[in-house]
Amino acid sequence: MNVLLLGNGGREHAIAWKLSQSSLLRTLHVAPGNGGTRSLGTSADLDPMDFQSVERYIRKNQIDLVVVGPEAPLVNGIADYLEDSKKVNVKVVGPRKAGALLEGSKRFAKEFMHRHSIPTARYGSFNNTQLEKAVSFLDTVSPPYVLKADGLAAGKGVVITSSKQEAKDTLKSMLLDGAFDGAGSEVVIEEYLDGKEVSMFAITDGRRFHLLPSAKDYKRLGDGDTGPNTGGMGAISPVPFLTEEFQEKALNQIIIPTIKGLEKEGIPYVGFLFFGLMKVGSDPFVVEYNCRLGDPETEVILPRIKSDLLHLFDSLCSGLLSEYDLVVDDRAASTVVLASEGYPGPYEKGKEIKFSDDIDTIDGHIFHAGTRENRKKTLTNGGRILALTGRGNDLKEAVKNSYALRERVNFEGCFSRTDIGRDALVD
Ligand code: AMP
Ligand code: GLY
Repeated sequence: MNVLLLGNGGREHAIAWKLSQSSLLRTLHVAPGNGGTRSLGTSADLDPMDFQSVERYIRKNQIDLVVVGPEAPLVNGIADYLEDSKKVNVKVVGPRKAGALLEGSKRFAKEFMHRHSIPTARYGSFNNTQLEKAVSFLDTVSPPYVLKADGLAAGKGVVITSSKQEAKDTLKSMLLDGAFDGAGSEVVIEEYLDGKEVSMFAITDGRRFHLLPSAKDYKRLGDGDTGPNTGGMGAISPVPFLTEEFQEKALNQIIIPTIKGLEKEGIPYVGFLFFGLMKVGSDPFVVEYNCRLGDPETEVILPRIKSDLLHLFDSLCSGLLSEYDLVVDDRAASTVVLASEGYPGPYEKGKEIKFSDDIDTIDGHIFHAGTRENRKKTLTNGGRILALTGRGNDLKEAVKNSYALRERVNFEGCFSRTDIGRDALVD
Protein backbone atom coordinates (compact mmCIF):
# COMPACT_ATOMS: atom_id res chain seq x y z
CA MET A 1 0.00 0.00 0.00
CA ASN A 2 0.99 3.60 -0.49
CA VAL A 3 0.58 5.50 2.75
CA LEU A 4 0.47 9.21 3.52
CA LEU A 5 1.08 10.15 7.16
CA LEU A 6 0.21 13.70 8.19
CA GLY A 7 2.12 15.47 10.97
CA ASN A 8 5.63 16.34 12.08
CA GLY A 9 6.09 15.37 15.73
CA GLY A 10 7.60 12.56 17.75
CA ARG A 11 4.28 10.78 17.44
CA GLU A 12 4.54 10.80 13.66
CA HIS A 13 8.15 9.60 13.71
CA ALA A 14 7.06 6.67 15.89
CA ILE A 15 4.13 5.88 13.56
CA ALA A 16 6.39 6.14 10.49
CA TRP A 17 8.99 3.89 12.14
CA LYS A 18 6.36 1.24 12.92
CA LEU A 19 4.72 1.49 9.48
CA SER A 20 8.09 1.12 7.79
CA GLN A 21 8.36 -2.39 9.27
CA SER A 22 5.16 -3.54 7.55
CA SER A 23 5.27 -6.09 4.76
CA LEU A 24 2.15 -4.41 3.31
CA LEU A 25 3.93 -1.07 2.81
CA ARG A 26 4.95 -0.04 -0.69
CA THR A 27 5.66 3.66 -0.29
CA LEU A 28 5.51 5.91 2.76
CA HIS A 29 5.03 9.66 2.49
CA VAL A 30 5.17 11.95 5.52
CA ALA A 31 3.79 15.47 5.34
CA PRO A 32 5.57 17.55 6.37
CA GLY A 33 7.63 15.15 8.55
CA ASN A 34 10.81 15.99 10.43
CA GLY A 35 14.51 15.15 10.55
CA GLY A 36 13.72 11.63 11.75
CA THR A 37 11.05 10.65 9.25
CA ARG A 38 13.18 11.60 6.23
CA SER A 39 15.03 8.30 6.15
CA LEU A 40 11.79 6.31 6.41
CA GLY A 41 9.90 7.74 3.46
CA THR A 42 9.35 10.69 1.17
CA SER A 43 8.98 14.02 2.94
CA ALA A 44 6.11 15.87 1.30
CA ASP A 45 6.11 19.62 1.52
CA LEU A 46 2.42 19.82 2.42
CA ASP A 47 0.41 21.58 5.09
CA PRO A 48 -2.02 19.04 6.63
CA MET A 49 -4.54 21.88 7.00
CA ASP A 50 -4.55 22.55 3.26
CA PHE A 51 -7.02 19.82 2.29
CA GLN A 52 -6.99 20.58 -1.43
CA SER A 53 -3.23 20.15 -1.63
CA VAL A 54 -3.49 16.94 0.39
CA GLU A 55 -6.12 15.67 -2.05
CA ARG A 56 -3.94 16.54 -5.05
CA TYR A 57 -0.97 14.79 -3.46
CA ILE A 58 -3.06 11.68 -2.82
CA ARG A 59 -4.11 11.50 -6.46
CA LYS A 60 -0.67 12.18 -7.85
CA ASN A 61 1.02 9.56 -5.68
CA GLN A 62 -1.75 6.95 -5.75
CA ILE A 63 -2.08 6.94 -1.98
CA ASP A 64 -4.26 4.12 -0.61
CA LEU A 65 -4.40 5.12 3.04
CA VAL A 66 -3.98 8.36 4.99
CA VAL A 67 -3.06 8.44 8.67
CA VAL A 68 -3.87 11.74 10.36
CA GLY A 69 -1.51 12.28 13.30
CA PRO A 70 -2.56 15.60 14.91
CA GLU A 71 -6.01 16.79 15.96
CA ALA A 72 -6.32 20.09 14.09
CA PRO A 73 -6.98 18.63 10.60
CA LEU A 74 -9.47 16.13 12.09
CA VAL A 75 -11.37 18.77 14.02
CA ASN A 76 -11.42 20.85 10.84
CA GLY A 77 -12.91 17.98 8.84
CA ILE A 78 -10.12 16.42 6.77
CA ALA A 79 -11.75 12.97 6.95
CA ASP A 80 -15.08 14.38 5.73
CA TYR A 81 -13.31 16.29 2.96
CA LEU A 82 -11.36 13.28 1.67
CA GLU A 83 -14.13 10.72 2.02
CA ASP A 84 -16.82 12.90 0.51
CA SER A 85 -14.64 13.99 -2.37
CA LYS A 86 -15.59 11.95 -5.42
CA LYS A 87 -12.12 12.30 -6.84
CA VAL A 88 -10.11 10.27 -4.36
CA ASN A 89 -10.67 6.76 -3.17
CA VAL A 90 -8.62 6.62 -0.03
CA LYS A 91 -8.88 5.03 3.41
CA VAL A 92 -8.60 7.48 6.28
CA VAL A 93 -7.37 6.64 9.79
CA GLY A 94 -8.96 9.41 11.86
CA PRO A 95 -12.54 10.36 12.65
CA ARG A 96 -14.79 12.76 10.82
CA LYS A 97 -15.49 16.19 12.25
CA ALA A 98 -18.56 15.03 14.20
CA GLY A 99 -16.51 12.48 16.15
CA ALA A 100 -13.44 14.70 16.46
CA LEU A 101 -15.69 17.15 18.34
CA LEU A 102 -15.06 14.99 21.42
CA GLU A 103 -11.67 16.74 21.42
CA GLY A 104 -12.63 19.90 19.54
CA SER A 105 -15.25 21.06 22.04
CA LYS A 106 -14.98 20.55 25.80
CA ARG A 107 -18.66 21.44 26.14
CA PHE A 108 -19.69 18.84 23.57
CA ALA A 109 -17.55 16.23 25.33
CA LYS A 110 -19.04 17.03 28.74
CA GLU A 111 -22.61 16.97 27.41
CA PHE A 112 -21.89 13.68 25.63
CA MET A 113 -20.57 12.13 28.86
CA HIS A 114 -23.60 13.43 30.74
CA ARG A 115 -25.98 11.89 28.16
CA HIS A 116 -24.28 8.50 28.49
CA SER A 117 -23.64 8.53 32.26
CA ILE A 118 -19.89 8.42 31.79
CA PRO A 119 -18.05 9.43 34.97
CA THR A 120 -16.42 12.86 34.76
CA ALA A 121 -16.06 15.93 36.98
CA ARG A 122 -19.25 17.93 37.64
CA TYR A 123 -19.29 20.99 35.40
CA GLY A 124 -21.02 24.06 34.08
CA SER A 125 -20.55 25.59 30.63
CA PHE A 126 -20.91 29.24 29.78
CA ASN A 127 -20.71 31.46 26.70
CA ASN A 128 -19.61 35.08 26.37
CA THR A 129 -23.01 36.44 27.40
CA GLN A 130 -22.93 34.51 30.68
CA LEU A 131 -19.99 35.89 32.64
CA GLU A 132 -22.09 36.58 35.74
CA LYS A 133 -23.55 33.09 35.74
CA ALA A 134 -20.07 31.66 35.31
CA VAL A 135 -18.78 33.66 38.28
CA SER A 136 -21.71 32.49 40.47
CA PHE A 137 -20.99 28.89 39.43
CA LEU A 138 -17.57 29.27 41.06
CA ASP A 139 -19.40 29.53 44.41
CA THR A 140 -20.84 26.05 43.92
CA VAL A 141 -17.49 24.26 43.49
CA SER A 142 -14.69 24.04 45.99
CA PRO A 143 -11.19 25.18 44.99
CA PRO A 144 -8.97 24.57 43.15
CA TYR A 145 -11.03 25.81 40.20
CA VAL A 146 -10.59 24.20 36.80
CA LEU A 147 -11.38 26.46 33.83
CA LYS A 148 -11.25 25.15 30.28
CA ALA A 149 -11.48 27.00 27.01
CA ASP A 150 -14.04 25.17 24.88
CA GLY A 151 -12.04 24.93 21.65
CA LEU A 152 -8.65 23.58 20.61
CA ALA A 153 -5.87 25.46 22.37
CA ALA A 154 -2.83 23.21 21.82
CA GLY A 155 -2.96 21.86 25.36
CA LYS A 156 -2.81 25.36 26.84
CA GLY A 157 -6.51 26.01 27.30
CA VAL A 158 -6.78 24.80 30.90
CA VAL A 159 -6.25 27.02 33.91
CA ILE A 160 -6.25 25.54 37.41
CA THR A 161 -6.12 27.97 40.32
CA SER A 162 -7.02 28.02 44.01
CA SER A 163 -7.58 31.78 43.96
CA LYS A 164 -11.16 32.81 43.30
CA GLN A 165 -9.98 36.22 42.14
CA GLU A 166 -7.66 34.64 39.58
CA ALA A 167 -10.47 32.33 38.48
CA LYS A 168 -12.74 35.35 37.96
CA ASP A 169 -10.05 37.26 36.05
CA THR A 170 -9.36 34.22 33.87
CA LEU A 171 -13.05 33.79 33.12
CA LYS A 172 -13.24 37.40 32.06
CA SER A 173 -10.19 37.19 29.81
CA MET A 174 -11.42 33.94 28.26
CA LEU A 175 -15.02 34.97 27.72
CA LEU A 176 -14.70 38.65 26.96
CA ASP A 177 -11.12 39.40 25.89
CA GLY A 178 -10.62 36.54 23.42
CA ALA A 179 -7.75 34.85 25.32
CA PHE A 180 -6.52 31.57 23.77
CA ASP A 181 -7.20 32.89 20.26
CA GLY A 182 -10.91 32.76 20.80
CA ALA A 183 -10.87 29.07 21.86
CA GLY A 184 -12.30 30.35 25.14
CA SER A 185 -15.35 32.23 23.88
CA GLU A 186 -17.09 29.36 25.63
CA VAL A 187 -15.78 28.05 28.92
CA VAL A 188 -16.28 24.88 30.92
CA ILE A 189 -15.80 25.16 34.69
CA GLU A 190 -15.39 21.87 36.46
CA GLU A 191 -14.65 20.30 39.79
CA TYR A 192 -11.08 19.43 40.55
CA LEU A 193 -10.32 15.71 40.47
CA ASP A 194 -7.63 14.74 42.93
CA GLY A 195 -5.93 11.58 41.73
CA LYS A 196 -3.45 9.99 39.37
CA GLU A 197 -3.63 10.61 35.66
CA VAL A 198 -3.36 7.84 33.09
CA SER A 199 -3.94 7.65 29.34
CA MET A 200 -5.82 4.77 27.75
CA PHE A 201 -6.19 4.28 24.01
CA ALA A 202 -8.59 2.43 21.77
CA ILE A 203 -8.63 2.04 18.02
CA THR A 204 -12.20 1.71 16.82
CA ASP A 205 -14.35 1.58 13.71
CA GLY A 206 -17.29 2.87 15.71
CA ARG A 207 -18.44 -0.58 16.85
CA ARG A 208 -15.52 -2.88 17.38
CA PHE A 209 -12.33 -1.82 19.07
CA HIS A 210 -8.94 -2.92 20.33
CA LEU A 211 -7.35 -1.52 23.46
CA LEU A 212 -3.77 -0.41 22.94
CA PRO A 213 -1.18 -0.37 25.75
CA SER A 214 -1.81 2.36 28.32
CA ALA A 215 0.62 5.09 29.24
CA LYS A 216 1.33 7.81 31.75
CA ASP A 217 2.39 11.19 30.42
CA TYR A 218 4.50 13.67 32.45
CA LYS A 219 2.87 16.98 31.50
CA ARG A 220 4.59 19.48 33.75
CA LEU A 221 7.91 21.02 32.78
CA GLY A 222 9.84 20.41 35.98
CA ASP A 223 10.87 17.50 38.17
CA GLY A 224 8.32 16.52 40.79
CA ASP A 225 5.48 17.73 38.52
CA THR A 226 6.29 21.40 38.98
CA GLY A 227 6.26 24.35 36.59
CA PRO A 228 4.01 25.02 33.62
CA ASN A 229 2.10 22.45 31.58
CA THR A 230 3.79 21.32 28.38
CA GLY A 231 2.85 19.03 25.51
CA GLY A 232 4.47 16.26 27.58
CA MET A 233 8.02 15.79 28.91
CA GLY A 234 8.07 12.01 29.08
CA ALA A 235 5.95 8.89 29.29
CA ILE A 236 5.98 5.33 30.51
CA SER A 237 4.15 2.16 29.53
CA PRO A 238 2.87 0.01 31.20
CA VAL A 239 1.58 2.04 34.15
CA PRO A 240 1.98 0.19 37.46
CA PHE A 241 -1.02 1.79 39.20
CA LEU A 242 -3.30 0.84 36.33
CA THR A 243 -4.45 -2.40 37.90
CA GLU A 244 -6.63 -5.00 36.23
CA GLU A 245 -9.52 -3.94 38.44
CA PHE A 246 -9.12 -0.30 37.36
CA GLN A 247 -8.83 -1.28 33.71
CA GLU A 248 -12.01 -3.31 33.96
CA LYS A 249 -13.84 -0.33 35.45
CA ALA A 250 -12.48 2.00 32.78
CA LEU A 251 -13.60 -0.43 30.10
CA ASN A 252 -17.12 -0.90 31.44
CA GLN A 253 -17.83 2.59 32.72
CA ILE A 254 -16.01 4.68 30.11
CA ILE A 255 -14.60 3.02 27.00
CA ILE A 256 -17.53 0.81 26.02
CA PRO A 257 -20.17 3.46 26.90
CA THR A 258 -18.26 6.02 24.80
CA ILE A 259 -18.16 3.83 21.71
CA LYS A 260 -21.79 2.74 22.21
CA GLY A 261 -22.77 6.37 22.80
CA LEU A 262 -21.22 7.44 19.49
CA GLU A 263 -23.02 4.62 17.70
CA LYS A 264 -26.35 5.47 19.35
CA GLU A 265 -26.02 9.10 18.32
CA GLY A 266 -25.21 8.11 14.75
CA ILE A 267 -21.70 9.58 14.93
CA PRO A 268 -19.32 7.51 12.77
CA TYR A 269 -15.86 7.04 14.25
CA VAL A 270 -12.89 5.40 12.55
CA GLY A 271 -9.62 6.06 14.30
CA PHE A 272 -8.01 6.42 17.68
CA LEU A 273 -9.84 7.37 20.83
CA PHE A 274 -7.62 8.68 23.61
CA PHE A 275 -9.07 8.64 27.11
CA GLY A 276 -7.33 11.01 29.51
CA LEU A 277 -8.40 9.53 32.84
CA MET A 278 -8.01 10.41 36.49
CA LYS A 279 -7.86 7.57 39.00
CA VAL A 280 -9.61 8.93 42.06
CA GLY A 281 -9.41 6.37 44.85
CA SER A 282 -9.93 3.28 42.74
CA ASP A 283 -12.38 4.82 40.27
CA PRO A 284 -11.83 6.23 36.77
CA PHE A 285 -13.09 9.65 35.63
CA VAL A 286 -12.67 11.21 32.20
CA VAL A 287 -10.52 14.35 32.22
CA GLU A 288 -10.53 14.66 28.45
CA TYR A 289 -11.07 12.85 25.18
CA ASN A 290 -8.70 13.20 22.26
CA CYS A 291 -9.39 12.01 18.73
CA ARG A 292 -5.82 10.89 18.02
CA LEU A 293 -2.83 9.26 19.66
CA GLY A 294 -0.94 11.16 22.37
CA ASP A 295 2.49 12.66 22.07
CA PRO A 296 4.81 11.50 23.74
CA GLU A 297 2.59 8.51 24.68
CA THR A 298 2.86 7.09 21.14
CA GLU A 299 6.63 6.87 21.56
CA VAL A 300 6.12 4.28 24.33
CA ILE A 301 2.96 2.60 23.03
CA LEU A 302 3.98 1.69 19.49
CA PRO A 303 7.31 0.08 20.46
CA ARG A 304 5.20 -2.24 22.65
CA ILE A 305 3.00 -3.39 19.77
CA LYS A 306 4.42 -6.45 18.10
CA SER A 307 1.85 -6.90 15.34
CA ASP A 308 1.83 -5.10 12.00
CA LEU A 309 0.51 -1.51 12.32
CA LEU A 310 -0.40 -1.09 8.66
CA HIS A 311 -2.32 -4.36 8.78
CA LEU A 312 -4.17 -2.90 11.80
CA PHE A 313 -4.99 0.30 9.87
CA ASP A 314 -6.09 -1.65 6.80
CA SER A 315 -8.30 -3.92 8.94
CA LEU A 316 -9.75 -0.85 10.68
CA CYS A 317 -10.77 0.75 7.38
CA SER A 318 -12.03 -2.49 5.79
CA GLY A 319 -14.45 -3.57 8.53
CA LEU A 320 -12.10 -6.36 9.62
CA LEU A 321 -10.98 -4.99 12.96
CA SER A 322 -12.24 -7.95 14.99
CA GLU A 323 -10.21 -10.35 12.88
CA TYR A 324 -6.99 -8.50 13.59
CA ASP A 325 -4.78 -10.06 16.24
CA LEU A 326 -3.19 -7.29 18.30
CA VAL A 327 -0.07 -8.60 19.99
CA VAL A 328 1.45 -6.55 22.80
CA ASP A 329 4.99 -6.92 24.06
CA ASP A 330 5.27 -7.41 27.84
CA ARG A 331 8.53 -5.50 27.88
CA ALA A 332 8.32 -1.94 29.18
CA ALA A 333 9.06 1.36 27.47
CA SER A 334 9.90 4.79 28.83
CA THR A 335 10.54 8.01 26.97
CA VAL A 336 12.35 11.17 28.04
CA VAL A 337 11.76 14.34 26.03
CA LEU A 338 14.77 16.51 25.30
CA ALA A 339 13.65 20.12 24.88
CA SER A 340 15.06 23.48 23.83
CA GLU A 341 15.97 26.12 26.40
CA GLY A 342 12.94 28.38 26.87
CA TYR A 343 10.28 25.76 26.04
CA PRO A 344 7.26 25.95 26.54
CA GLY A 345 7.90 29.68 26.03
CA PRO A 346 9.96 31.12 23.14
CA TYR A 347 13.13 29.24 22.14
CA GLU A 348 15.86 29.45 19.51
CA LYS A 349 16.09 27.03 16.61
CA GLY A 350 18.93 25.75 14.44
CA LYS A 351 21.22 24.25 17.10
CA GLU A 352 23.19 21.26 15.93
CA ILE A 353 22.32 18.01 17.72
CA LYS A 354 25.25 15.72 18.51
CA PHE A 355 24.86 12.00 19.13
CA SER A 356 27.58 9.84 20.76
CA ASP A 357 29.05 7.13 18.57
CA ASP A 358 27.97 4.37 20.95
CA ILE A 359 24.32 5.46 21.13
CA ASP A 360 23.19 2.45 19.08
CA THR A 361 24.38 0.11 21.84
CA ILE A 362 21.51 1.24 24.09
CA ASP A 363 18.27 -0.76 23.99
CA GLY A 364 15.81 1.83 22.71
CA HIS A 365 14.74 4.17 19.92
CA ILE A 366 15.38 7.82 19.20
CA PHE A 367 12.26 9.54 17.94
CA HIS A 368 12.63 13.00 16.44
CA ALA A 369 10.08 15.73 17.13
CA GLY A 370 11.25 19.30 16.37
CA THR A 371 14.24 18.51 14.18
CA ARG A 372 15.29 19.04 10.59
CA GLU A 373 18.15 17.79 8.49
CA ASN A 374 20.49 20.18 6.78
CA ARG A 375 23.56 18.95 4.87
CA LYS A 376 23.82 15.74 6.89
CA LYS A 377 23.49 17.67 10.15
CA THR A 378 20.50 17.35 12.47
CA LEU A 379 19.31 20.73 13.71
CA THR A 380 16.76 21.75 16.34
CA ASN A 381 13.56 23.08 14.84
CA GLY A 382 11.09 23.38 17.71
CA GLY A 383 10.48 23.18 21.45
CA ARG A 384 10.36 19.47 22.03
CA ILE A 385 13.28 18.06 20.04
CA LEU A 386 13.68 14.33 20.68
CA ALA A 387 11.79 11.59 22.52
CA LEU A 388 14.39 9.15 23.85
CA THR A 389 12.66 5.83 24.31
CA GLY A 390 14.34 3.15 26.39
CA ARG A 391 13.25 -0.48 26.47
CA GLY A 392 13.65 -3.03 29.23
CA ASN A 393 12.26 -6.15 30.79
CA ASP A 394 10.71 -3.91 33.42
CA LEU A 395 10.12 -0.19 33.82
CA LYS A 396 13.24 0.30 35.88
CA GLU A 397 15.41 -1.00 33.08
CA ALA A 398 13.46 0.96 30.44
CA VAL A 399 13.86 4.21 32.40
CA LYS A 400 17.56 3.52 32.87
CA ASN A 401 17.95 3.06 29.13
CA SER A 402 16.06 6.30 28.39
CA TYR A 403 18.52 8.17 30.55
CA ALA A 404 21.45 6.29 29.00
CA LEU A 405 20.25 7.67 25.64
CA ARG A 406 19.82 11.10 27.22
CA GLU A 407 23.49 11.11 28.26
CA ARG A 408 24.48 10.44 24.67
CA VAL A 409 22.72 13.40 23.05
CA ASN A 410 23.61 17.04 23.33
CA PHE A 411 22.83 20.44 21.87
CA GLU A 412 23.22 23.95 23.16
CA GLY A 413 20.61 24.72 25.83
CA CYS A 414 19.04 21.25 25.87
CA PHE A 415 17.21 20.06 28.96
CA SER A 416 14.98 17.23 30.13
CA ARG A 417 13.24 16.14 33.29
CA THR A 418 15.40 13.89 35.43
CA ASP A 419 12.58 12.01 37.17
CA ILE A 420 10.54 10.34 34.43
CA GLY A 421 9.16 7.06 35.78
CA ARG A 422 10.47 7.61 39.29
CA ASP A 423 7.01 7.85 40.92
CA ALA A 424 5.91 4.68 39.15
CA LEU A 425 8.94 2.78 40.38
CA VAL A 426 8.31 3.47 44.07
CA ASP A 427 4.60 2.65 43.86
P1 AMP B 1 -7.14 18.81 29.47
O1 AMP B 1 -6.68 19.69 28.35
O2 AMP B 1 -8.62 18.77 29.67
O3 AMP B 1 -6.53 17.45 29.40
O4 AMP B 1 -6.46 19.36 30.79
C1 AMP B 1 -5.06 19.53 30.89
C2 AMP B 1 -4.58 19.02 32.21
O5 AMP B 1 -5.21 19.71 33.29
C3 AMP B 1 -4.95 17.55 32.45
O6 AMP B 1 -4.03 16.71 31.86
C4 AMP B 1 -4.95 17.48 33.95
O7 AMP B 1 -3.64 17.33 34.43
C5 AMP B 1 -5.47 18.82 34.36
N1 AMP B 1 -6.93 18.76 34.59
C6 AMP B 1 -7.90 18.96 33.68
N2 AMP B 1 -9.11 18.81 34.23
C7 AMP B 1 -8.91 18.52 35.54
C8 AMP B 1 -9.76 18.27 36.64
N3 AMP B 1 -11.09 18.33 36.53
N4 AMP B 1 -9.19 17.99 37.82
C9 AMP B 1 -7.86 17.96 37.96
N5 AMP B 1 -6.99 18.21 36.97
C10 AMP B 1 -7.51 18.48 35.76
N1 GLY C 1 0.49 14.05 25.74
C1 GLY C 1 -0.81 14.57 25.75
C2 GLY C 1 -1.42 14.74 24.44
O1 GLY C 1 -0.94 14.26 23.43
O2 GLY C 1 -2.46 15.37 24.38
